Amino acid sequence: MSWVDDLEHRARVGLPAYVAGYVAAAAGGGECLAEELAGWEALRFRPRVLTDTGDVDLTTTVLGTPVRTPVLVAPMAQQVAAHPDGEAATGRAAAAAGSLLGVSTNTAVPFADVAATGAPWWYQVYVMADRGLTRLLVERAAAAGARALVLTLDTTALATDAPGGQGVEPTDWPPGPARARATALTSEDLADRDQGATAMARDLDADVVGWLAEVSGLPVLVKGVLRGDDAVRCLDAGAAGVVVSTHGGRRLGSSVTALRALPEVVAALDGRAEVLVDSGIRSGAHVAAALALGARAAFVGRPAWWGLAADGEAGVRSVLDRLTAELALVLRQVGAPSVRALAPDLLDPATLPARPR
Ligand SMILES: Cc1cc2nc3c(=O)[nH]c(=O)nc-3n(C[C@H](O)[C@H](O)[C@H](O)COP(=O)(O)O)c2cc1C
Repeated sequence: MSWVDDLEHRARVGLPAYVAGYVAAAAGGGECLAEELAGWEALRFRPRVLTDTGDVDLTTTVLGTPVRTPVLVAPMAQQVAAHPDGEAATGRAAAAAGSLLGVSTNTAVPFADVAATGAPWWYQVYVMADRGLTRLLVERAAAAGARALVLTLDTTALATDAPGGQGVEPTDWPPGPARARATALTSEDLADRDQGATAMARDLDADVVGWLAEVSGLPVLVKGVLRGDDAVRCLDAGAAGVVVSTHGGRRLGSSVTALRALPEVVAALDGRAEVLVDSGIRSGAHVAAALALGARAAFVGRPAWWGLAADGEAGVRSVLDRLTAELALVLRQVGAPSVRALAPDLLDPATLPARPR
Protein backbone atom coordinates (compact mmCIF):
# COMPACT_ATOMS: atom_id res chain seq x y z
CA MET A 1 0.00 0.00 0.00
CA SER A 2 1.51 3.37 -0.97
CA TRP A 3 1.43 6.27 1.47
CA VAL A 4 -1.22 7.95 -0.72
CA ASP A 5 -3.47 4.87 -0.45
CA ASP A 6 -2.92 4.89 3.28
CA LEU A 7 -3.81 8.60 3.42
CA GLU A 8 -6.98 7.99 1.41
CA HIS A 9 -7.96 5.27 3.82
CA ARG A 10 -7.34 7.51 6.85
CA ALA A 11 -9.33 10.33 5.27
CA ARG A 12 -12.25 8.09 4.32
CA VAL A 13 -12.78 6.63 7.76
CA GLY A 14 -13.21 10.10 9.26
CA LEU A 15 -15.66 11.39 6.64
CA PRO A 16 -19.38 10.87 6.19
CA ALA A 17 -19.91 8.27 3.46
CA TYR A 18 -21.52 10.79 1.08
CA VAL A 19 -18.47 13.08 1.30
CA ALA A 20 -15.94 10.26 0.90
CA GLY A 21 -17.97 8.97 -2.04
CA TYR A 22 -18.07 12.39 -3.68
CA VAL A 23 -14.29 12.78 -3.54
CA ALA A 24 -13.53 9.28 -4.74
CA ALA A 25 -16.17 9.33 -7.48
CA ALA A 26 -15.26 8.93 -11.12
CA ALA A 27 -17.30 9.10 -14.30
CA GLY A 28 -18.79 6.01 -15.91
CA GLY A 29 -17.48 2.86 -14.32
CA GLY A 30 -14.25 4.57 -13.27
CA GLU A 31 -12.34 3.28 -16.30
CA CYS A 32 -10.73 6.63 -17.20
CA LEU A 33 -9.48 7.21 -13.64
CA ALA A 34 -8.20 3.64 -13.44
CA GLU A 35 -6.34 4.13 -16.72
CA GLU A 36 -4.87 7.46 -15.53
CA LEU A 37 -3.53 5.82 -12.36
CA ALA A 38 -2.18 2.77 -14.19
CA GLY A 39 -0.70 4.86 -17.01
CA TRP A 40 1.48 7.07 -14.80
CA GLU A 41 2.53 4.02 -12.81
CA ALA A 42 3.56 2.08 -15.94
CA LEU A 43 6.05 4.73 -17.17
CA ARG A 44 9.73 3.83 -16.97
CA PHE A 45 12.72 6.15 -16.97
CA ARG A 46 15.98 5.88 -18.90
CA PRO A 47 18.40 7.28 -16.29
CA ARG A 48 21.57 9.16 -17.25
CA VAL A 49 24.92 8.81 -15.52
CA LEU A 50 27.77 11.31 -15.13
CA THR A 51 25.56 14.31 -14.45
CA ASP A 52 26.14 16.50 -11.43
CA THR A 53 23.09 16.20 -9.20
CA GLY A 54 24.75 17.47 -6.04
CA ASP A 55 22.09 20.16 -5.94
CA VAL A 56 18.77 19.58 -7.61
CA ASP A 57 16.76 22.67 -8.48
CA LEU A 58 13.00 22.25 -8.18
CA THR A 59 12.13 25.90 -8.59
CA THR A 60 10.23 27.12 -11.60
CA THR A 61 7.66 29.70 -12.61
CA VAL A 62 4.06 29.17 -13.65
CA LEU A 63 2.63 32.01 -15.75
CA GLY A 64 5.42 34.13 -14.31
CA THR A 65 4.75 33.27 -10.65
CA PRO A 66 7.80 31.75 -8.94
CA VAL A 67 7.18 28.48 -7.06
CA ARG A 68 9.61 26.32 -5.10
CA THR A 69 7.96 23.15 -6.34
CA PRO A 70 6.14 22.22 -9.55
CA VAL A 71 3.60 20.27 -7.46
CA LEU A 72 0.52 22.53 -7.36
CA VAL A 73 -2.87 22.11 -5.67
CA ALA A 74 -5.74 21.57 -8.10
CA PRO A 75 -8.93 23.61 -7.66
CA MET A 76 -11.39 21.42 -5.75
CA ALA A 77 -14.85 22.22 -4.50
CA GLN A 78 -16.34 21.70 -1.06
CA GLN A 79 -13.07 21.71 0.91
CA VAL A 80 -14.91 22.81 4.06
CA ALA A 81 -16.40 19.31 4.03
CA ALA A 82 -12.85 18.00 4.55
CA HIS A 83 -11.92 20.53 7.22
CA PRO A 84 -13.74 23.58 8.64
CA ASP A 85 -10.96 25.91 7.42
CA GLY A 86 -11.22 24.52 3.87
CA GLU A 87 -9.09 26.41 1.35
CA ALA A 88 -7.65 28.63 4.10
CA ALA A 89 -5.88 25.56 5.52
CA THR A 90 -4.96 24.30 2.05
CA GLY A 91 -3.62 27.74 1.17
CA ARG A 92 -1.46 27.97 4.30
CA ALA A 93 -0.01 24.56 3.43
CA ALA A 94 0.63 25.61 -0.17
CA ALA A 95 2.34 28.80 1.03
CA ALA A 96 4.59 26.85 3.40
CA ALA A 97 5.47 24.31 0.70
CA GLY A 98 6.26 27.02 -1.87
CA SER A 99 3.37 25.83 -4.03
CA LEU A 100 0.33 27.45 -5.63
CA LEU A 101 -3.36 26.98 -4.93
CA GLY A 102 -6.24 26.57 -7.36
CA VAL A 103 -9.47 27.94 -5.84
CA SER A 104 -12.73 26.49 -7.11
CA THR A 105 -15.74 28.55 -8.15
CA ASN A 106 -17.50 26.34 -5.63
CA THR A 107 -15.49 27.45 -2.62
CA ALA A 108 -17.19 28.25 0.67
CA VAL A 109 -14.17 30.27 1.89
CA PRO A 110 -14.09 34.05 1.27
CA PHE A 111 -11.42 35.24 -1.18
CA ALA A 112 -9.94 37.48 1.54
CA ASP A 113 -9.24 34.41 3.70
CA VAL A 114 -7.58 32.64 0.76
CA ALA A 115 -5.46 35.72 0.04
CA ALA A 116 -4.45 35.97 3.72
CA THR A 117 -2.71 32.58 3.48
CA GLY A 118 0.04 34.19 1.42
CA ALA A 119 -0.05 31.45 -1.21
CA PRO A 120 -0.19 32.53 -4.83
CA TRP A 121 -3.62 31.47 -6.09
CA TRP A 122 -5.52 31.07 -9.31
CA TYR A 123 -9.28 31.34 -9.47
CA GLN A 124 -11.06 28.52 -11.26
CA VAL A 125 -14.06 29.62 -13.31
CA TYR A 126 -17.19 27.71 -14.15
CA VAL A 127 -18.96 30.12 -16.47
CA MET A 128 -22.55 30.48 -15.33
CA ALA A 129 -25.66 30.73 -17.45
CA ASP A 130 -25.92 34.35 -16.20
CA ARG A 131 -22.63 35.85 -17.38
CA GLY A 132 -23.17 38.84 -15.08
CA LEU A 133 -22.65 36.57 -12.06
CA THR A 134 -19.44 35.16 -13.53
CA ARG A 135 -18.27 38.70 -14.16
CA LEU A 136 -18.90 39.62 -10.52
CA LEU A 137 -16.94 36.57 -9.33
CA VAL A 138 -13.89 37.08 -11.50
CA GLU A 139 -13.77 40.80 -10.72
CA ARG A 140 -13.85 39.97 -7.01
CA ALA A 141 -11.20 37.28 -7.37
CA ALA A 142 -8.93 39.64 -9.30
CA ALA A 143 -9.42 42.40 -6.72
CA ALA A 144 -8.57 39.91 -3.95
CA GLY A 145 -5.27 39.01 -5.62
CA ALA A 146 -5.87 35.98 -7.84
CA ARG A 147 -3.01 35.86 -10.34
CA ALA A 148 -4.78 34.00 -13.12
CA LEU A 149 -8.09 32.43 -14.05
CA VAL A 150 -8.44 28.72 -14.74
CA LEU A 151 -11.39 28.32 -17.07
CA THR A 152 -12.68 24.77 -16.68
CA LEU A 153 -14.38 23.65 -19.87
CA ASP A 154 -14.79 19.94 -19.25
CA THR A 155 -17.88 20.07 -17.12
CA THR A 156 -20.64 21.33 -19.40
CA ALA A 157 -22.19 17.87 -19.06
CA LEU A 158 -21.75 16.03 -15.81
CA ALA A 159 -21.53 12.32 -15.29
CA THR A 160 -24.68 12.65 -13.17
CA ASP A 161 -26.59 13.67 -16.29
CA ALA A 162 -26.30 10.11 -17.56
CA PRO A 163 -29.14 7.82 -16.58
CA GLY A 164 -27.76 5.59 -13.86
CA GLY A 165 -24.41 7.38 -14.09
CA GLN A 166 -22.13 7.35 -11.10
CA GLY A 167 -22.65 10.65 -9.31
CA VAL A 168 -19.83 13.13 -8.90
CA GLU A 169 -21.96 16.00 -7.62
CA PRO A 170 -22.96 16.29 -3.97
CA THR A 171 -26.70 16.27 -4.63
CA ASP A 172 -27.42 14.07 -1.62
CA TRP A 173 -25.64 16.30 0.91
CA PRO A 174 -27.50 17.93 3.76
CA PRO A 175 -27.74 21.73 3.44
CA GLY A 176 -24.81 23.71 4.86
CA PRO A 177 -21.73 25.61 3.78
CA ALA A 178 -20.16 22.56 2.21
CA ARG A 179 -23.10 22.06 -0.07
CA ALA A 180 -23.51 25.68 -1.09
CA ARG A 181 -22.16 26.56 -4.53
CA ALA A 182 -20.31 29.72 -5.42
CA THR A 183 -20.51 31.19 -1.97
CA ALA A 184 -18.56 34.24 -3.08
CA LEU A 185 -21.97 35.36 -4.39
CA THR A 186 -24.25 37.05 -1.88
CA SER A 187 -28.01 36.83 -1.67
CA GLU A 188 -28.12 40.41 -3.01
CA ASP A 189 -26.09 39.31 -6.04
CA LEU A 190 -28.60 36.56 -6.63
CA ALA A 191 -31.73 38.68 -6.13
CA ASP A 192 -33.81 39.21 -9.28
CA ARG A 193 -31.80 36.72 -11.32
CA ASP A 194 -33.48 34.16 -13.52
CA GLN A 195 -33.91 30.69 -12.12
CA GLY A 196 -30.93 28.66 -13.26
CA ALA A 197 -28.68 31.75 -13.34
CA THR A 198 -25.87 29.92 -11.53
CA ALA A 199 -26.13 26.77 -13.65
CA MET A 200 -23.07 26.06 -15.76
CA ALA A 201 -23.26 27.57 -19.21
CA ARG A 202 -23.35 25.06 -22.03
CA ASP A 203 -23.31 27.51 -24.90
CA LEU A 204 -19.67 28.59 -24.70
CA ASP A 205 -17.61 29.53 -27.73
CA ALA A 206 -14.04 30.77 -28.08
CA ASP A 207 -15.05 34.38 -27.28
CA VAL A 208 -15.40 33.46 -23.60
CA VAL A 209 -11.61 33.28 -23.22
CA GLY A 210 -11.01 36.85 -24.37
CA TRP A 211 -14.02 38.10 -22.42
CA LEU A 212 -12.71 36.63 -19.16
CA ALA A 213 -9.24 38.04 -19.77
CA GLU A 214 -10.77 41.45 -20.44
CA VAL A 215 -13.10 41.63 -17.44
CA SER A 216 -10.51 40.26 -15.00
CA GLY A 217 -7.31 41.74 -16.43
CA LEU A 218 -5.75 38.32 -15.71
CA PRO A 219 -4.19 35.60 -17.86
CA VAL A 220 -6.58 32.72 -18.58
CA LEU A 221 -5.61 29.04 -18.55
CA VAL A 222 -8.08 26.63 -20.11
CA LYS A 223 -8.53 23.44 -18.08
CA GLY A 224 -9.83 20.19 -19.53
CA VAL A 225 -8.07 20.29 -22.91
CA LEU A 226 -7.36 16.82 -24.33
CA ARG A 227 -6.57 17.56 -28.00
CA GLY A 228 -3.78 19.40 -29.76
CA ASP A 229 -6.17 21.20 -32.11
CA ASP A 230 -8.26 22.44 -29.18
CA ALA A 231 -5.13 23.69 -27.41
CA VAL A 232 -4.30 25.77 -30.49
CA ARG A 233 -7.89 27.10 -30.63
CA CYS A 234 -7.61 28.12 -26.97
CA LEU A 235 -4.40 30.02 -27.64
CA ASP A 236 -5.84 31.66 -30.73
CA ALA A 237 -8.75 32.79 -28.52
CA GLY A 238 -6.31 34.47 -26.12
CA ALA A 239 -5.52 31.77 -23.55
CA ALA A 240 -2.17 32.00 -21.77
CA GLY A 241 -1.92 28.23 -21.52
CA VAL A 242 -3.83 25.01 -21.01
CA VAL A 243 -4.30 22.35 -18.36
CA VAL A 244 -4.47 18.86 -19.84
CA SER A 245 -6.96 17.14 -17.56
CA THR A 246 -9.78 14.62 -17.37
CA HIS A 247 -10.94 16.26 -14.13
CA GLY A 248 -9.40 13.29 -12.34
CA GLY A 249 -11.42 10.85 -14.46
CA ARG A 250 -14.64 12.58 -13.41
CA ARG A 251 -15.65 13.95 -16.80
CA LEU A 252 -16.28 10.99 -19.13
CA GLY A 253 -15.56 7.37 -18.29
CA SER A 254 -14.62 6.53 -21.86
CA SER A 255 -12.34 9.55 -22.31
CA VAL A 256 -8.74 9.45 -23.50
CA THR A 257 -6.47 10.00 -20.49
CA ALA A 258 -4.63 13.23 -19.71
CA LEU A 259 -1.36 11.28 -19.85
CA ARG A 260 -2.12 10.09 -23.35
CA ALA A 261 -3.21 13.56 -24.50
CA LEU A 262 -0.27 15.43 -22.97
CA PRO A 263 2.38 14.77 -25.66
CA GLU A 264 -0.08 15.72 -28.42
CA VAL A 265 -0.95 19.02 -26.72
CA VAL A 266 2.70 19.83 -25.99
CA ALA A 267 3.61 19.15 -29.64
CA ALA A 268 0.71 21.24 -30.94
CA LEU A 269 1.64 24.27 -28.83
CA ASP A 270 5.34 23.84 -29.59
CA GLY A 271 6.53 26.05 -26.73
CA ARG A 272 4.11 28.91 -27.48
CA ALA A 273 2.44 28.64 -24.07
CA GLU A 274 2.62 26.77 -20.80
CA VAL A 275 1.00 23.35 -20.53
CA LEU A 276 0.04 21.99 -17.12
CA VAL A 277 -1.41 18.59 -16.37
CA ASP A 278 -3.38 16.69 -13.75
CA SER A 279 -5.41 13.52 -13.19
CA GLY A 280 -4.08 10.45 -11.42
CA ILE A 281 -0.75 11.95 -10.31
CA ARG A 282 0.17 10.24 -7.06
CA SER A 283 3.99 10.26 -6.73
CA GLY A 284 7.11 12.29 -7.39
CA ALA A 285 7.94 9.91 -10.24
CA HIS A 286 4.60 10.76 -11.87
CA VAL A 287 5.37 14.48 -11.53
CA ALA A 288 8.84 13.94 -13.02
CA ALA A 289 7.30 12.05 -15.94
CA ALA A 290 4.74 14.81 -16.52
CA LEU A 291 7.50 17.40 -16.67
CA ALA A 292 9.63 15.18 -18.91
CA LEU A 293 6.69 15.07 -21.31
CA GLY A 294 6.62 18.85 -21.44
CA ALA A 295 4.33 19.96 -18.63
CA ARG A 296 5.43 23.09 -16.80
CA ALA A 297 3.94 21.84 -13.53
CA ALA A 298 1.48 19.23 -12.28
CA PHE A 299 -1.63 19.66 -10.17
CA VAL A 300 -2.62 17.13 -7.55
CA GLY A 301 -6.26 16.83 -6.61
CA ARG A 302 -7.54 14.06 -4.39
CA PRO A 303 -4.27 13.48 -2.46
CA ALA A 304 -4.39 17.11 -1.22
CA TRP A 305 -8.11 16.77 -0.38
CA TRP A 306 -7.41 13.57 1.58
CA GLY A 307 -4.51 15.27 3.38
CA LEU A 308 -6.83 18.12 4.36
CA ALA A 309 -9.48 15.68 5.60
CA ALA A 310 -7.01 13.53 7.53
CA ASP A 311 -4.81 16.20 9.15
CA GLY A 312 -5.92 19.68 8.08
CA GLU A 313 -3.19 22.13 7.05
CA ALA A 314 -0.44 19.75 8.21
CA GLY A 315 -1.94 16.99 6.09
CA VAL A 316 -1.85 19.05 2.89
CA ARG A 317 1.64 20.27 3.72
CA SER A 318 2.79 16.70 4.19
CA VAL A 319 1.35 15.67 0.79
CA LEU A 320 3.08 18.55 -1.00
CA ASP A 321 6.38 18.09 0.84
CA ARG A 322 6.40 14.35 0.31
CA LEU A 323 5.66 14.56 -3.42
CA THR A 324 8.32 17.27 -3.73
CA ALA A 325 10.90 15.18 -1.85
CA GLU A 326 10.10 12.19 -4.05
CA LEU A 327 10.53 14.40 -7.11
CA ALA A 328 13.95 15.56 -5.88
CA LEU A 329 15.00 11.96 -5.39
CA VAL A 330 13.84 10.95 -8.88
CA LEU A 331 15.79 13.89 -10.37
CA ARG A 332 18.94 12.54 -8.73
CA GLN A 333 18.15 8.99 -9.76
CA VAL A 334 17.60 9.87 -13.43
CA GLY A 335 20.53 12.30 -13.58
CA ALA A 336 18.58 15.54 -13.99
CA PRO A 337 20.02 18.49 -12.02
CA SER A 338 16.85 20.56 -12.33
CA VAL A 339 13.23 20.31 -13.36
CA ARG A 340 14.23 22.08 -16.58
CA ALA A 341 16.54 19.17 -17.41
CA LEU A 342 13.62 16.75 -17.54
CA ALA A 343 13.11 15.85 -21.20
CA PRO A 344 11.24 13.14 -23.14
CA ASP A 345 14.42 11.12 -23.75
CA LEU A 346 14.46 10.29 -20.04
CA LEU A 347 11.36 8.14 -20.54
CA ASP A 348 11.20 4.76 -22.25
CA PRO A 349 8.86 5.41 -25.22
CA ALA A 350 7.67 1.80 -25.09
CA THR A 351 6.03 2.58 -21.73
CA LEU A 352 4.14 5.64 -22.99
CA PRO A 353 0.54 5.28 -24.10
CA ALA A 354 0.43 5.32 -27.91
CA ARG A 355 -0.09 8.79 -29.46
CA PRO A 356 -3.49 9.29 -31.04
CA ARG A 357 -3.13 9.31 -34.84
C1 LIG B 1 -13.52 16.56 -4.76
C2 LIG B 1 -13.12 17.20 -6.05
C3 LIG B 1 -13.65 18.42 -6.40
C4 LIG B 1 -13.27 19.04 -7.58
N1 LIG B 1 -13.77 20.27 -7.88
C5 LIG B 1 -13.34 20.91 -8.99
C6 LIG B 1 -13.80 22.22 -9.28
O1 LIG B 1 -14.60 22.80 -8.56
N2 LIG B 1 -13.32 22.80 -10.41
C7 LIG B 1 -12.42 22.19 -11.24
O2 LIG B 1 -12.01 22.75 -12.25
N3 LIG B 1 -11.96 20.95 -10.97
C8 LIG B 1 -12.39 20.31 -9.87
N4 LIG B 1 -11.91 19.06 -9.60
C9 LIG B 1 -10.90 18.45 -10.48
C10 LIG B 1 -9.49 18.83 -10.02
O3 LIG B 1 -9.22 20.19 -10.27
C11 LIG B 1 -8.43 18.00 -10.78
O4 LIG B 1 -8.62 18.15 -12.16
C12 LIG B 1 -8.46 16.51 -10.42
O5 LIG B 1 -8.79 16.32 -9.06
C13 LIG B 1 -7.10 15.91 -10.71
O6 LIG B 1 -7.13 14.53 -10.56
P1 LIG B 1 -6.67 13.75 -9.23
O7 LIG B 1 -7.74 13.97 -8.21
O8 LIG B 1 -6.61 12.34 -9.70
O9 LIG B 1 -5.33 14.31 -8.82
C14 LIG B 1 -12.32 18.41 -8.44
C15 LIG B 1 -11.80 17.17 -8.08
C16 LIG B 1 -12.17 16.57 -6.90
C17 LIG B 1 -11.55 15.25 -6.52
